[in-house]
Amino acid sequence: MVSLLGDSESIALAPDNAPEPFTAATPTPATPTLSRTELLIPTNTKPRKISVFGLGYVGAVSAACFSAAGHHVIGLDVNATKRQCFRDGEPPVVEPRLRDLMQAGKQAGRLTALDDVDEAIRATDVSLICVGTPSRDNGSINIDNVSHVMGEIGRALRHKTGPHLVVVRSTMIPGSMRKVMIPILEQESGRRCGDDLLVAYNPEFLRESTAVADFFAPPKTVVGSDDAEAARQLADLYDGIDAPLFAVSFEASEMIKYADNTWHALKVCFGNEIGNICQALEIDSHELMKVFCADTKLNISPYYLKPGFAFGGSCLPKDTRALTYLARQLDVETPILSNVLPSNRGQIERAVAKVVNFGHRDVAVLGFSFKPGTDDLRESPQVELIERLLGKGFNLKVYDPSVNLSALTGMNRQYIEKTIPHIHSIMMTSLRKTVAGADVIIIGNASPEFRGIEPLLSEDQVVLDLVRLWDTPRMKARYVGINW
Ligand SMILES: NC(=O)c1ccc[n+]([C@@H]2O[C@H](COP(=O)([O-])OP(=O)(O)OC[C@H]3O[C@@H](n4cnc5c(N)ncnc54)[C@H](O)[C@@H]3O)[C@@H](O)[C@H]2O)c1
Repeated sequence: MVSLLGDSESIALAPDNAPEPFTAATPTPATPTLSRTELLIPTNTKPRKISVFGLGYVGAVSAACFSAAGHHVIGLDVNATKRQCFRDGEPPVVEPRLRDLMQAGKQAGRLTALDDVDEAIRATDVSLICVGTPSRDNGSINIDNVSHVMGEIGRALRHKTGPHLVVVRSTMIPGSMRKVMIPILEQESGRRCGDDLLVAYNPEFLRESTAVADFFAPPKTVVGSDDAEAARQLADLYDGIDAPLFAVSFEASEMIKYADNTWHALKVCFGNEIGNICQALEIDSHELMKVFCADTKLNISPYYLKPGFAFGGSCLPKDTRALTYLARQLDVETPILSNVLPSNRGQIERAVAKVVNFGHRDVAVLGFSFKPGTDDLRESPQVELIERLLGKGFNLKVYDPSVNLSALTGMNRQYIEKTIPHIHSIMMTSLRKTVAGADVIIIGNASPEFRGIEPLLSEDQVVLDLVRLWDTPRMKARYVGINW
């Protein structure tokens, strides 16, 4: 690893194994100096010749950083000023450290721009597409720029022999690669993906203003492709960058960017809504969030982020309700917090709709306390699901190893008796018998005992799993996850 832009210990940017420059450009005598103090740049052991389409924030930074790592990079953009900037080693966008990298790339003969797509494709064997994908007025994403570049690359590939890897970095909704981009590329190039045409999707996680630093220290590298060779070659571009690497499907690689960005957006708005309530209560919101963020067990952690069923129990619904009520009293608007409970109810409705769609009447629910190992039934969403299904006329049997009705006391007992008055008549004491009589088996919570039902199931039964009890279910019954 080498690092950039210091004053003390100096090293050359160009790694020893760099391929020849694109043109017979005179090698630059003066190599920029770097120090080991700040920004770690890997020296790529398998440098490639890369064309980068779109020289905005993502494209310019990707181009400059790949060239700094030892790759040879040609930039292309519809904007002639940006292309000229690139030739001059001047950043087309404002981004700390970008100019130094671009100057270094230019002087090393590893970073330039071309006007002509055919020429760029002939001169490179990897293309990165980083063009803009703006919103349309209706909120949908406009991927026309990517389609356009795909077409250009495809047509250029007709005049080139030899393999080519085409990678999209622009943000696009899941399905764009498979349904739109690959067909365009295959149609225009006359090649089939997988032969000498490799295709991958590679979302970018940089943040503007720290983009160069983020490029060399990303939170993760995600490689999306159906083709192992495409994924391997793409991963090799990042050789030496220390980040967890995930090789996933096209669709998952496209989706992760949306999950990331909407999560970041949600975090901002959550913090703001909590802050707005705090201010109305004269609580220092920054002090408060410092304490909140110090909790890396439950708050800033993977906990509570697994897709599945609705939340419940004696605290989350009650406290969400109380806080949004308080906000209303304080005249503080909390559109996110106020929509948490409706969203949660929606997940119960989702389960109801799935059961209705199965078209069977005899339903078993395994686990109806809100989580295994407790008999607290208050605001259990599984109890609400049972109540909704009973209301729709399904024949239900329910079983939960943690719940003994005769042992329930106080509010807990009152709650279940009020919500499902005849719970006694549908409650079973044998797991085997509960499963045997049902067409649909709902896994309501993750009691370890429920794993044992796999061999008991038959082909004409359906299992609706609300908790992902099995990652790889091995059962004769049809298996359906609530959201996987
Ligand atoms: N900016 C970010 O922080 C960021 C981070 C991650 C991902 N992204 C995604 O990356 C993509 C690019 O974002 P950006 O911020 O760099 O956009 P940008 O608008 O800064 O740059 C896009 C560039 O593409 C060029 N372009 C458009 N059509 C072209 C074509 N047919 N051929 C060649 N060049 C063309 C434009 O002239 C422009 O220079 C978007 O999909 C964006 O959502 C952006």
